[in-house]
Amino acid sequence: MKSKFLPLNVRDLRRCSRIIKLSRSAYDYCASGSRDQFTLKQNLKAYQNYNIIPRALVGGLSSANTRTAILGESVDFPVLIAPTSMHKLMHQDGEVATYKAALKMNTIYCMSSLATTTAEDIAKHSDRLRWFQLYIAKDRERTKRLVFKLTQLGFKALVLTIDTPILGVREKDIINGFSLPNGMRLENFEDDPNAAVSGEHGIMSGLNRFFHTSVDMDLKWSDINWLKSITNLPIILKGVMCADDAQLALDHNVAGIIVSNHGGRQLDTVPATIDVLPEIANAVCGRIPVLLDGGIRRGTDIFKALALGANAVLIGRPILWGLAYNGESGVELALNFLKTELLETMILSGTRSIDEIQAKHIRRAI
Ligand SMILES: Cc1cc2nc3c(=O)[nH]c(=O)nc-3n(C[C@H](O)[C@H](O)[C@H](O)COP(=O)(O)O)c2cc1C
Repeated sequence: MKSKFLPLNVRDLRRCSRIIKLSRSAYDYCASGSRDQFTLKQNLKAYQNYNIIPRALVGGLSSANTRTAILGESVDFPVLIAPTSMHKLMHQDGEVATYKAALKMNTIYCMSSLATTTAEDIAKHSDRLRWFQLYIAKDRERTKRLVFKLTQLGFKALVLTIDTPILGVREKDIINGFSLPNGMRLENFEDDPNAAVSGEHGIMSGLNRFFHTSVDMDLKWSDINWLKSITNLPIILKGVMCADDAQLALDHNVAGIIVSNHGGRQLDTVPATIDVLPEIANAVCGRIPVLLDGGIRRGTDIFKALALGANAVLIGRPILWGLAYNGESGVELALNFLKTELLETMILSGTRSIDEIQAKHIRRAI
């Protein structure tokens, strides 16, 4: 069915995908946060606590641009695609569509461990602009083999998610009895019997079973050293939520961190990411890139995150809404909305480049 409603922003893409494209259970899987969804809502609301303070008559705004570089790779704008699972639930073209859109828009796609496409199928499209998100398996040999394969395939960085010793519980998934349809599986765990997540008992038990049996819930900081011992790829830690952990990340010489609460899907009632960003950026003090995700829906949100110390942001759900709406073109549309809105915000606030966006351009709302 074709939509008569013309989407103008990423929230419109969510409405379109909900109304015309997705089953209730697929939509809820994507939209939900854990338990009372306090953090999910807080991630979105917290941006309203900051106002942008524009500077006038700065000159040179006709050449304002959003270009930047992350870990040495140039991107057209500082919005990366966060790792999200199971893109074939959103659209038949799945992760390949997402990656192709990232290539078109010249930004980085971080592939999820829980993808419904193989890393090989992504790698054959280009050797640029792709990272891989990792969970460390209990069976370290399995992780070693995967990391070796990812290195051979030319992925540029590993993003180790550190906020998921167990999966957060999203209660709507239980109500919906949500499960991964027949024929879909977690393609990068091909020899893992739990990778089908077919779950006669629903996906919660399927995914929980996968985590309990396969993913190492006893990870500790020294395991970062282990990971570093098996790869030369840059390691980025995803899920840093306080200055002390940022300091430990620095002590373990990681290449970057992502301030993230998993889009409110793990521990409920943790703060909005934008609210912990300043203390973390302060602790890191420019030594490694600090990225942030959670609740970015407008160019003004991106601007505020950059002003508070992020080098770039990542987006999760807006990509999935775009994918559901219109495959590769829908993802491109989502990225384009945010790129256009960021440039508009920069021009209207008197900032000509990403580097010029500073703390002085925002103020906590009274
Ligand atoms: C449906 C869905 C699946 C996700 N899957 C993963 C995953 O496999 N690995 C991971 O590290 N984070 C995962 N995340 C979290 C995202 O990487 C990101 O932190 C979050 O979506 C950012 O918030 P936003 O959706 O408000 O942009 C997922 C998020 C969603 C919504």
